[in-house]
Amino acid sequence: MSAAAQYARLVEAASAPYRAAGSFAWHFARGKLGRDPAFRHFLEARLIPEGARLLDLGCGQGLLRALLDAAGEPRLASYRGFELMARDVERARRALGGDCGVSQGDIRTAPFGSADVVVLLDVLHYLPLADQDAVLARVRAALAPGGTLLLRIGDAGGGLPFLLSNWADWCVACARGHGATRFHCRSVAQWRGALEALGFAVRAEPMSRGTPFANVLLVARAPRHD
Ligand SMILES: C[S@@+](CC[C@H](N)C(=O)[O-])C[C@H]1O[C@@H](n2cnc3c(N)ncnc32)[C@H](O)[C@@H]1O
Repeated sequence: MSAAAQYARLVEAASAPYRAAGSFAWHFARGKLGRDPAFRHFLEARLIPEGARLLDLGCGQGLLRALLDAAGEPRLASYRGFELMARDVERARRALGGDCGVSQGDIRTAPFGSADVVVLLDVLHYLPLADQDAVLARVRAALAPGGTLLLRIGDAGGGLPFLLSNWADWCVACARGHGATRFHCRSVAQWRGALEALGFAVRAEPMSRGTPFANVLLVARAPRHD
């Protein structure tokens, strides 16, 4: 079986539990896991190591948790997700179980504890710039030495594809009950600067394959020693 067919099968398995959370949750899971290249890339590039303590900030309905469960690998030491919207937390719990690790919380104040990998997938632009910086500083403090932040952003320097991704995000935010949301975006260079100021070593990878957007994955490694 081709890699694409294998991944399609995995998406079906990861989405199936969301039937219990309603038609929107199921269709959303299939569409997002199937078409957003970030999820497949996390698995194929092995960005989440075996035994990691994973912290998923702004985790929505817990799609990353569902995908990792369905894949069976890597086996995590723990998964914790924080999500602002009660409706998404409810969808995650109905699909994945009350003990799935998804809690309602605002990432500006939620207790991060310690983690080996932190994921911020299309989330930080919901926050004003000063709050983004404060969250990043708390992420850096929560990460173990050598730990990884996986930060996916829309590149504000990305021209028309960026405007398209912002528009699509805005539509999804409205559909999920956020109302008219104002986004706070930065260019890749600006994100890189903010992360490097915190001591991260940063690698930027385009993460829009198969979409018309200007999304970029920043893989930010904390130093092995402080
Ligand atoms: C575009 S969605 C991405 C969801 C998830 N990361 C994914 O890729 O499936 C952005 C999410 O961030 C959440 N969010 C925004 N501001 C937040 C905050 N201050 N605390 C927690 N979650 C927040 C939104 O409610 C929304 O579910």
